[in-house]
Amino acid sequence: AKPPLTVLVTGAAGMRQIGYALIPLIAKGAMLGPNQPVIIHMLDIEPASQSLNAVKMELIDSAFPLLKGVVATTDVVEACSGVNIAVMVGGFRRKEGMERKDVMSKNVSIYKAQASALEQHAAPDCKVLVVANPANTNALILKEFAPSIPEKNITCLTRLDHNRALGQISQSLDVPVSDVKNVIIWGNHSSTQYPDANHATVTTFSGDESARELIGDDKWLQTEFITTVQERGAAIIKARKLSSALSAASSACDHIRDWVLGTPKGTWVSMGVCSDGSYGVPPGLMYSFPVTCDKGQWSIVQGLKIDEFSREKMDITAKELMEEKTLAYSCLN
Ligand code: NAI
Repeated sequence: AKPPLTVLVTGAAGMRQIGYALIPLIAKGAMLGPNQPVIIHMLDIEPASQSLNAVKMELIDSAFPLLKGVVATTDVVEACSGVNIAVMVGGFRRKEGMERKDVMSKNVSIYKAQASALEQHAAPDCKVLVVANPANTNALILKEFAPSIPEKNITCLTRLDHNRALGQISQSLDVPVSDVKNVIIWGNHSSTQYPDANHATVTTFSGDESARELIGDDKWLQTEFITTVQERGAAIIKARKLSSALSAASSACDHIRDWVLGTPKGTWVSMGVCSDGSYGVPPGLMYSFPVTCDKGQWSIVQGLKIDEFSREKMDITAKELMEEKTLAYSCLN
């Protein structure tokens, strides 16, 4: 049998339940495959320690065959020790009436501390996925304060937005979502993100066809499609009275699975990664790009044609990320 991999989930006891939705998926093999045993480390803060222990009890009670160990802790060093995959769901949420800077400041200090803990205690090839918002900027801080972790090993989640975009196209054309591929989320996991369907295709009887041509309504693609994806998180909150949990958890599994096990041939996915300057995005920013993955490494898809409409949208979200970066750095002083 394969030796187990250790997966860390921070913020595992969150009342809004991403952790609660994510942990059983990991234990069932949705993240690392049905033949990969796992050990799950769960971290949360002291006030959540009772509910964290409850999750551990339920994990034990579920008797998941792949689950070879569970650690529930409020000690960041214990949580990070020997971790192969770190999924960072923990963070500070904006409370009513709080300034943006105060929220950023809390998250900067969390991500700075957790960067050091991962750097010192995780497995040397540890792969990191930041889910907690502001996801791109939290990942940026983690990258800057964990210089010994290879830059390529630090990413943030925009796969939920990517999956939402696939879902909208599938609904609009009334085709199974598995027949739709190669949408792109550019930029920030925020309302400035640019969901781009220009290169998306749909599998039909006669091969892969352009989603844009099949939809035949550029106006919809440039307006409602974009805003629906951008504002989907808010729509879920309105309807559920809580933020997206099952779809966020499922997308986090998709992100890690494709990263570790590879993307299918001819398919790309969206991941927030460190820009190398591709498509004119400032190097060093954590920006969502189309990527393919092979042997545990992602690479940005090159050579896509970018029209003027797209260019403008890609720049708006880059600008927001630069502002977030400046704000985050101002919190360090
Ligand atoms: P939540 O607020 O219920 O859970 C966050 C948890 O983090 C809490 O249990 C809190 O105690 C814990 N936490 C706070 N500081 C911590 C620390 N220093 N170490 C460990 N844990 C700590 O939120 P929920 O719904 O579970 O979401 C988590 C995050 O994911 C939020 O920031 C949310 O905005 C973000 N999110 C991101 C998505 C994406 O697509 N990137 C989608 C949906 C949510």
